[in-house]
This record gives sequence, C-alpha cells and structure tokens, in this order.
Amino acid sequence: MRAWRLSVIVWLCWGFIWHNAQSGVLGEAVVSRNAQSKAPTSSARSQYVLHCAGCHGLDGSGAPQAQVPDMRSLAVFLKLDGGREFLLKIPGLMGSGLDDQSVANVSNWVFANLVENKPEKFQEFTAAEVAKARQSPLNDVALARTKLQQLAAAQGLHIP
Ligand code: HEC
Repeated sequence: MRAWRLSVIVWLCWGFIWHNAQSGVLGEAVVSRNAQSKAPTSSARSQYVLHCAGCHGLDGSGAPQAQVPDMRSLAVFLKLDGGREFLLKIPGLMGSGLDDQSVANVSNWVFANLVENKPEKFQEFTAAEVAKARQSPLNDVALARTKLQQLAAAQGLHIP
C-alpha cells in the first residue's frame, strides 16, 4: 500500500517537472545555455573596471611604485598646449582594444568620476578626436610627459 502511494507521488512530481520543462518554466533556467548576459559590459564604468582599473585602481589613484600615475590629478593637463591630446595618446588607452567611441566614453567617465578639480566647462572627448589622436601616436610617453611637466612648471602649475 505504501509503495503504491509513493509511486503515485513520484509519478505526479515527474509529470509536474516534465510539464514545466516543456513549457519553458524550468527550461529557461536550466536548459538555455545561450542566454544573453544580463549584465552587458559596454558601459563606460565597466570598461574602466575591465580595461583600466587593474593598473590604475578603482579610484584612479594608480600605483606610484609601478609608475602608474594618479589619474585624479589629470585636470592640469587640459590647461597645457598638447595636454589634452596627450591624455588620449596614452598607450594603455589607445592599445586597450576599445574603439574610438569607447575610448572617448571611458575618458569622459574618468573625468566625470575620478578627476579632481576639473574645469567648470569640461569639453567632453569625442570619437572624432580619438580617431585624430590615433594618427600620430606617442613614440616616447615618458619624454612627452616630462615636456608637459616642464611646460606646467613654466606656467606655475604642477604635474605630480
Ligand atoms: C597595464 C597597466 C595599464 C593599463 C591597463 C592602463 N594604464 Fe593608463 N597608464 C599606465 C602607465 C604605466 C602610465 C604611465 C605612462 C606610460 O608609461 O604609459 C599610464 C598613464 C595613463 C594616463 C596619463 C596619466 C598621466 O598622469 O600621465 C592616462 C590618462 C591613462 N593612463 C588612462 C588609462 C585608461 C583610461 C585606461 C583604460 C582604458 C588605462 N590607462 C589602462 C598603465 C596602465
């Protein structure tokens, strides 16, 4: 008698599971392997996290011991002749595999979220500007930076 009842219960349960699987209730959760990610990594913030934060840190503070500069003080570059282009020509950015629009987006995200003391009228980077910067890459980043540091000093400004 007990065995009979048990087999009815098992049969009912199996019917229920089979029915749901067929109608997609369980099927979607368990079977579908090609479901699209619900967290696309296309936002500027996630691109920063994926492509930049490994070296620059989530807060942009960098790693002085590894010569990764502090991005929070980037605003001063905008005041210097050639400084804005310099920021786009950085190898870590240009060589990140991001397309022109994404490079512009991630740079704008950095300025909007990490950079301190940015100018009131910050002009956003554009894809066209990035495309132009790509045409004349920096041969020597350290030298270009040193020149900008000297230019800054001559104007009473400071690049750390
Ligand atoms: C592998 C480590 C690494 C990654 C990844 C990286 N960077 Fe950098 N970044 C550096 C280093 C090191 C420098 C110093 C200049 C140089 O050596 O290229 C630098 C310099 C910079 C500068 C200039 C700052 C200054 O004060 O001179 C900017 C802007 C910048 N990176 C942006 C980015 C952005 C945005 C990303 C992500 C798309 C990124 N970097 C990814 C290591 C990295």
